[in-house]
Amino acid sequence: MALRIPMIAGNWKMNLGIAEGAELVRGIAAGIRDVKGVDVLVAPPFTALPAVREAIGDAGIFLGAQNMHWETEGAYTGEVSAAMLKETGCTHVILGHSERRSLFREPSEDIDRKAAAAVREGLIRRQLEGSLQQFRVQGSMPASTILAYEPVWAIGTGLTATPDEAREVHGFIRGWLGDTFVSDAADQVRILYGGSVKPGNAADLMAQPDIDGALVGGASLQAETFAGIVRFDPV
Ligand code: 13P
Repeated sequence: MALRIPMIAGNWKMNLGIAEGAELVRGIAAGIRDVKGVDVLVAPPFTALPAVREAIGDAGIFLGAQNMHWETEGAYTGEVSAAMLKETGCTHVILGHSERRSLFREPSEDIDRKAAAAVREGLIRRQLEGSLQQFRVQGSMPASTILAYEPVWAIGTGLTATPDEAREVHGFIRGWLGDTFVSDAADQVRILYGGSVKPGNAADLMAQPDIDGALVGGASLQAETFAGIVRFDPV
């Protein structure tokens, strides 16, 4: 079985300005300096990306954006492309978050186009199941893909799926990957759990066989709390 390095990702959503974002990531870097064997990612708002990249320095924290357009350039007012994100230092992009779908009516076909464009540009991305049509047609999915399962009722509510419930869904997704793709996707793709993850529940969730990390919203906005999740004590 492939070794999947755990990933803890902070989705800052529409929070924090430039100075605040830079300060937060410096705090996170200081709080996780001695942690090994965990990939850490922050996804600030677009405006803070360059400053956060600079503040990361050589701390080894990955930078992600929260959305992008699938075209490379053109008359798409208000949008940014994968190449523009790369230019700011992004290595990842979050696609298809449930808030994009429910609040902005983003359909799976758009997310599918974005996913293909992100891979073309070398941006690794995470995406919810159901928007992987182009990869399904190809029959393979890049191993760098990261999926996230977030029960919508657990987002920002303080309610979390029990480790057993989460494990069941993650196991289902991994089985689906195995049935759908001829490549080693099922073995290699990381599946993150999201929804009110905190330092107090991270270890139990992360101990489940098919849970490879966490996508953290509210608790990623404070260095100490986020660092506490990164230090979940891998087993
Ligand atoms: P919370 O951690 O605030 O529940 O948010 C989860 C989430 O939506 C991360 O993308």
